[in-house]
Amino acid sequence: MSLKRSTVKELLASQDLDREVLVKGWVRSRRGNKYVQFIIVNDGSTIHTIQAVAAAENFPEETLKDVGNGAAVAIRGTLVASQGKGQAVEIQATEVIVLGAADAEAYPLQKKATSLEHLRDIAHLRPRTNTFGAVLRIRHALAFAVHQYFNDHGFYYVHTPIITGSDAEGAGQMFRVTTLSADKPPLAEDGSVDYTQDFFGKQTNLTVSGQLEGELAAMALGSIYTFGPTFRAENSNTARHLAEFWMIEPEVAFNELEENMDLAEDFLQSLVKYALANCADDLAFLNEQYDKELLARLHSVADNAFQRLTYTEAVEILKSAKQKFEFPVDWGTDLQSEHERYLVEKHFKKPVILTNYPKEIKAFYMKLDDDGRTVRAMDVLFPGIGEIIGGSQREEDYTKLTTRMAEMNVPAHDLDWYLDTRRFGTAPHAGFGLGFERLVLFVTGMSNIRDVIPFPRYPKNAAF
Ligand code: 4AD
Ligand code: MG
Repeated sequence: MSLKRSTVKELLASQDLDREVLVKGWVRSRRGNKYVQFIIVNDGSTIHTIQAVAAAENFPEETLKDVGNGAAVAIRGTLVASQGKGQAVEIQATEVIVLGAADAEAYPLQKKATSLEHLRDIAHLRPRTNTFGAVLRIRHALAFAVHQYFNDHGFYYVHTPIITGSDAEGAGQMFRVTTLSADKPPLAEDGSVDYTQDFFGKQTNLTVSGQLEGELAAMALGSIYTFGPTFRAENSNTARHLAEFWMIEPEVAFNELEENMDLAEDFLQSLVKYALANCADDLAFLNEQYDKELLARLHSVADNAFQRLTYTEAVEILKSAKQKFEFPVDWGTDLQSEHERYLVEKHFKKPVILTNYPKEIKAFYMKLDDDGRTVRAMDVLFPGIGEIIGGSQREEDYTKLTTRMAEMNVPAHDLDWYLDTRRFGTAPHAGFGLGFERLVLFVTGMSNIRDVIPFPRYPKNAAF
C-alpha cells in the first residue's frame, strides 16, 4: 500500500508519533552542516512549516542539490518529537524526491522580505509567501462564513446574471460586452452602431450589482442573498477600489430600514468572530508583521454595538469638528472618505451606520422618507476602511418609484420587469451590498485592496 500524503497542518497537530509519513510541498529554505541538513517545507495548508532532517550519511550533498528555495518536494520519513526548539515535531527523512526543481538564482521569492508593491508584479507567485498564504486562507474562511451565516438564518443563495441588459444602476461606469468588431461595427442607417446585430440583439454590459434581480427573488423566496463578481469601470485608482470585485447582497422581504441595520451589524460581527475563531494562526502572523492593533480592532468591532445616526446629524458633527477637511461639508453633499473616517476613527471610535441621506446623492430605488428630502439609505462605515456596506429600504410604491425614475432619467421601459414587483403584490423590503474585498481588507489589516484578491483588476492592469 502506498503511503497517503499528510498535510503539514495535520502533521504539526498530530500526537501520533514514530510512524512513517509522507509530506509534499515547496521548500522554504535549506540549511545545515556537513553532518545534517534541515529542509523547511510549506504546503499551504497552514502558515507554519515542517522541518525535515536529512542526515548526511543517507543524503550525500549531490542528492540534495536541487532541494533549494521554491522547489517542489516529496519527503518520506518518520514523524518524531523535535530535538530542536521552535517546533514540536519534525520528520527524520528517509527519502527526498524533487518533484520540480526551481532555479535558485532566478527564483523571485528570495529569503529577504520583498515589498508588497513588487509582489503585485509577481502575483502568480505571491501565494507562496507567508503574507499571501495568510490572506488567501482568511479570504476563503470569510467566504465560507458568509454562506454559513445565511444558510443558518434561512436565506437562499440566488445566482444573478453577470451579463446584464440594463444599465440602470451604474450608467456610465459599466464594461460593455459585445461580439461586434471593434474597428468596423455594423452601422444603422443613422450612422450609429447597430446593436441589433450584436450577440444578444442589444447593448449588454457586465453587472455592477445583483440587487435588482435579487429583489425579484426576495419577493418570492423571502430572504435571499447573492455573492458574485461585480464590475465597475470607474477610474478610481485608490487603495479601496477594484474594477472587478465580489459583492454579497442580501435582500429581505418585509424588512424595513431598522431590521436592515440589525442584519448588517449582526452579519459583520459574525464574520469577524468566525475569522477570529478559525484563522488564529494567520491573524497572529498579520498582527505581528503588519499591524499590531489588528486583533484588538477585530475584537472591538465584534463585541461592541455600532453607532447609528442620520446623515443630517453626521453633517452637524463634521461642521463643528476641529479638524480641517480637504473637502468642505454641507448638507446635500456626498461625504468623502476623510469625513467617514473622522466619524469612525476620531469621533465615535467604532463602526458607524449612517442613514437617511439626501435623495439627490442616492440611487433611484431607495425609499423616500416622509419629509420628501431624504431616503432610507444606510452606509456602514468601518475603521481604516470607510464605507464597507451600502444599502437601503427599497421604494415599494409604484407611483413614487416611477416618479423618482423620471426625475433621475432612469429609463422605465428597460426596467418594466423590475417595476412588475411593485405592480403585483408589492411589499416593504430592504437589503444591502457588502464589498467582499473591503471586508477581507478589514479582517487582514492589509492596507491596499489589491493585496486581498488573487489577481486584482484596476485601471491599466489586467495581468494574469
Ligand atoms: O454602495 P454600493 O455601490 O451599493 C450597491 O451596489 C447596492 N446595489 C447594494 C445593495 O443595496 N444591494 O456598493 C456596495 C459595496 C460598497 O459599500 C463597497 O463595500 C463595495 O460594494 N464597493 C467596492 N469594492 C471594491 N471596489 C469598488 N470599486 C467598489 N465599489 C463598491
Ligand atoms: Mg455606496
